[in-house]
Amino acid sequence: MNILVIGGAGYIGSHMVRQLDRAGHNVVILDNLSTGFSEAVTAGQLIVGDMQDRALVQRILGDHQIESVMHFAACALVGESVIEPAKYYQNNVLATLELLEAMRYCSVKKIVFSSTCATYGQPQIVPITENEKQEPVNPYGFTKLVIERALEDYSLAYGLNFAALRYFNAAGASPEGDIGEDHQPESHLIPIVLQVALGQRENITIFGDDWETPDGTCVRDYIHVDDLCTAHLLALERLETGDNLKLNLGTGNGYSVRQIIESCREVTDCDIAEVVGERRPGDPPKLIADPSLANNSLDWAPKYQSPKAIIETAWAWHKTHPNGYESDSK
Ligand code: UFG
Repeated sequence: MNILVIGGAGYIGSHMVRQLDRAGHNVVILDNLSTGFSEAVTAGQLIVGDMQDRALVQRILGDHQIESVMHFAACALVGESVIEPAKYYQNNVLATLELLEAMRYCSVKKIVFSSTCATYGQPQIVPITENEKQEPVNPYGFTKLVIERALEDYSLAYGLNFAALRYFNAAGASPEGDIGEDHQPESHLIPIVLQVALGQRENITIFGDDWETPDGTCVRDYIHVDDLCTAHLLALERLETGDNLKLNLGTGNGYSVRQIIESCREVTDCDIAEVVGERRPGDPPKLIADPSLANNSLDWAPKYQSPKAIIETAWAWHKTHPNGYESDSK
C-alpha cells in the first residue's frame, strides 16, 4: 500500500516507518523537522515540509497515489499545552483539519490518528476502558479529542475511515539501537532517568510522592514503541474492512515513578540519585489502560511486558547516542 506518514521523523513515527517498510508498504514521509530528525528516517522517501501547506499535501497525495495516511505530527507535552495553548490549537487542530481537507479533496479515505489517554482527563475508573468519559483536563488532551470528533463527523458525512489510537506512555527504542527517543529538551521520565545514569544530570526529581497511590508516586502504563507500531499496522489492515476504530493502546499494567527508577537502576547497574519535588500541574495520579478491546479486535498483545524489557532497549539507545541524533553527526 502507498502510505503517507506525517511526522515520520519523530519518535513514534520513525519506528512506524521502519515497520511499514518491513511489511512491504511504500512509505512517503512528510515532516517539518521541527522536533523530528532526518537521521531517524531509515526507509521511504522523506519530504521536508509542513502539513499545513495544503497545496504540498495535495501534491504528495496525488503524485504518490497515497491510499492511507498515518498522522503522528503533533505537540504532545501536557505542561507546555497549559502555558502555550495557541501552539496546540494551531499545530494539533488547525493543521490536522487542513490535512483532512486535503485528503477529502484527493479522495484519500483512510487515516490512522495518534490520540492519547490524555483525552480521558482524570478517569473515574482505572484501568480505563474506551467507554470512560472523555473529559480532558489540559489543552493537549482537548485538541486530540477535537480531532477524534472531527474524524467521526468526516466519517459520517464523507465516508472517511479512521482509527483513533489512544496511547498510554510510549517508551523504549528500536531493538537495533539505531533509532530512539530524542526530545529537546527532554521531559519524559525514562530518558531523564537514563540521563542521570549517563552522568548528564545529577538526579531525577520525582514530581510528588504524596499522591494516593501505593508508594505515593504517579502510576503510568508504559508501552514499548514497537508494540504501539505493531498495533498501528494491524489497525491499518482493519480499516480495509470499513470499520472505524477507537482503541486504547497500553499493556494494562501500571508502574509508579519509583518502580521505574528502580528498574532503571537494575538495567543500568548505576546509582541513580532521586529527589522529591513538587507535583507537576496537570498530572493525573494513575493512568492504566484496559487494552482488552485492542487485544481482541486487532488480535494484538504487547511483546514487551515488563518495564525492564522496555528500559533495556531505551538504555541501548541512550548509551550509544548520549546526545541523541546529534551523536550520529559527530
Ligand atoms: N515524572 C517525574 N519526574 C520527571 C519526569 C516525569 O516524576 O522528571 C513523572 C511524571 O510526573 C509522570 C510520570 O513521571 O507521573 C511520567 O511522566 P512523562 O512526562 O514521562 O509522561 P506523561 O505521563 O506526563 O505523558 C505521557 C505522554 C503524553 C500524554 C500523557 C497523558 O508523554 O504525550 O502521557 O497523560 F499526553
